[in-house]
Amino acid sequence: MNYTSIQEAARTVNTRQKVQPKIGLILGSGLGVLADEITDAVTIPYADIPHFPVSTVEGHKGQLVIGELHGVPVLAMQGRFHFYEGWDVKDVTFPVRVMKELGIDKLIVTNAAGGVNPSLNAGDLMLITDHINHAGSHPLRGRNNPELGVRFPDMSAAYSPRLREEAQHAAAELGMNLREGVYVWNSGPSYETPVEVKMLQYLGGDAVGMSTVPEVIAARHAGMETAGISCISNMAAGILDQPLSHEEVIETTEKVREEFLGLIREWVKRIEKGD
Ligand code: 6GU
Repeated sequence: MNYTSIQEAARTVNTRQKVQPKIGLILGSGLGVLADEITDAVTIPYADIPHFPVSTVEGHKGQLVIGELHGVPVLAMQGRFHFYEGWDVKDVTFPVRVMKELGIDKLIVTNAAGGVNPSLNAGDLMLITDHINHAGSHPLRGRNNPELGVRFPDMSAAYSPRLREEAQHAAAELGMNLREGVYVWNSGPSYETPVEVKMLQYLGGDAVGMSTVPEVIAARHAGMETAGISCISNMAAGILDQPLSHEEVIETTEKVREEFLGLIREWVKRIEKGD
């Protein structure tokens, strides 16, 4: 990873932002609306930032929104980059490097995911406790740049126990049931077969999706505290007797949007207070 490119991108963002963001937010499919709540917002299209990739997938805008989320200075990525779009995992994780360079030391990632654990239901929110990298790709493959992190980063607490505790406190305060589980990254873009889903159950996965893991690995490499929430948008193949579609994913995330937004809002406030 070229540190100069990261610095150039960070410089562009830094000259335009009006607040110093503390928390980075990566918003998944159908969940980008959170960024619309950011006040005094500076919006920077990815295309304006040197070396930034530009997203193509439906339902994803491509911009950074920097401002205050209920008093907490944040930088939100409205639209992320996926491996299945053809990007290299280095491109997928580039924005995380830029966040770190901007002085952001916490990252919250969100995504839409398929429920693998049959006790989950479409519409549930699931706090990620750990992940399985099942995509056959790794963002740190290749020569390590010691300016960015260590060669062999520890992943034993990739999903911060402290941030997770704050998430559960936030959920309790809102009277919400926040499920917990293991997120599996599959590269996509096809959804899994029923037998693959059964395999993921045997492996200990609770939800499966096409994102998040590369960003979290890069953030941990960079020494950032990380946490993530999946919106269970549908059950994975073979669990219910019905085909899967992107329309269903978007429909469900729209249905739980308010609940999801409320949780993130409360969570971010608590994280800020606890610092
Ligand atoms: Cl079922 N699988 C994957 N890989 N990604 C998803 C999904 C399923 N549902 C939403 N995103």
